[in-house]
Amino acid sequence: MAGHSTYVPQSAGAKWLESRLPVISLIRGSFVDFPTPKNLNYWWTFGGILAVMLVAQILTGVVLVMHYTPSTAAAFDSVEHIMRDVNFGWMLRYLHANGASMFFIAVYIHIFRGMYYGSYKAPREISWILGVIIFLIMMGTAFMGYVLPWGQMSFWGATVITNLFSAIPLVGEAIRTWLWGGFAVDNPTLNRFFSLHYLLPFMLVGIVILHVWAFHTTGNNNPTGVQPKSKQDTVPFHPYYTIKDLFAIIVFMILFSWFAFYAPNYMGHPDNYIEANPMVTPAHIVPEWYFLPFYAILRAIPDKLGGVLAMFGAIAVLFILPWLDTSKVRSGSYRPLFKQFFWLFAICAVALGYLGAMPAEGIYVILSRIFTAYYFAHFLIILPLLGLLEKPLPLPASISEAVLKGGSGKPAGAVAAPEIK
Ligand code: HEM
Repeated sequence: MAGHSTYVPQSAGAKWLESRLPVISLIRGSFVDFPTPKNLNYWWTFGGILAVMLVAQILTGVVLVMHYTPSTAAAFDSVEHIMRDVNFGWMLRYLHANGASMFFIAVYIHIFRGMYYGSYKAPREISWILGVIIFLIMMGTAFMGYVLPWGQMSFWGATVITNLFSAIPLVGEAIRTWLWGGFAVDNPTLNRFFSLHYLLPFMLVGIVILHVWAFHTTGNNNPTGVQPKSKQDTVPFHPYYTIKDLFAIIVFMILFSWFAFYAPNYMGHPDNYIEANPMVTPAHIVPEWYFLPFYAILRAIPDKLGGVLAMFGAIAVLFILPWLDTSKVRSGSYRPLFKQFFWLFAICAVALGYLGAMPAEGIYVILSRIFTAYYFAHFLIILPLLGLLEKPLPLPASISEAVLKGGSGKPAGAVAAPEIK
């Protein structure tokens, strides 16, 4: 991460510190002097937004825990106590619950940005793979967090998802019992979910540091996908991107605040205001919106084990994306066919999200099957073939040339050698 710093300690104290723990030059090299492509657009601000959201979730969560009781007898009431009696408890809870949704909005934009501009391609495969691991841990954390208020959806959501493991041949039932810590979702389940929900965000912090380290080693991608060739192609991270990121963070916080303060239950489910009752099954068990596309894939397959495999496969395929895309050109801006398939894939993901919220019957199931097939076809058939068949537009000779000729979207005249060696 460091290595770019021009920092020379001046005072005796700074020299003393630098020769023992060069943390100031590390920070300067990473977030002040770091040479960053000069053409990054606003889609590149979502990494910073995500970092802020992770910190916000940890801060609000740590204070919520001071008033929350992780037991089936008291959890629901303790959340109501937070909402009514704790000073600004309602605000902390709404910030935390809506913060989870905002975190997923940002992460989906961040992932789609990476997919469009080919940020997963060499040499950034490790940044991407660490990102997929982050995404998985985020989903685990959000799932377990949703169980904590011990409402009807908490209980039944946990029951449906943990039951999936019983589909694994031979050991499935044993795994389910082990996950539950008993013979149903109950007090031991709530306790372990609480413990893990607290632990995992701190693991995320560690993996995010590796994530940042990885793309600071390779340098950032940029909208042209062309690697910086000279000093003219980059600017120091500070003040150019500190200000740009800050502006985007403020705009994002306005949207976040609008949800938290004006529509705090918009993204939630009313049934979670009813205390968990193992004797009453809700009419429709639906997960939070950010799980819906994967839920649709799960239910699209008529066989339980097949559904579970397809659901996990939908995420697993992301790990090998860097090798499935055979194109020599990184950015979608210079790939006319890829661009169209990218948008078809985006429509497919939204359609799966819609279908995940619908009852698993009739036309909804048929459409879920079609879109599930398309989801996998995109990665396993379309991307490998496109790279071989598509004729990309000519690449600009450098980032500077693209900028001077009017942005990343327009092809600049010069024909350059394929970018990825
Ligand atoms: C807590 C979650 C995450 C945080 C805090 C985070 C943070 C960041 C930051 C600060 C950047 C640089 C700025 C930018 O490109 O926006 C970045 C880049 C990147 N992220 Fe993430 N990220 C997260 C999750 C993910 C996920 C889930 C993926 C993919 C599955 C991912 C893939 C990438 C890639 C490939 C880059 C390199 C892009 C480039 O070099 O321009 N990240 N991330």
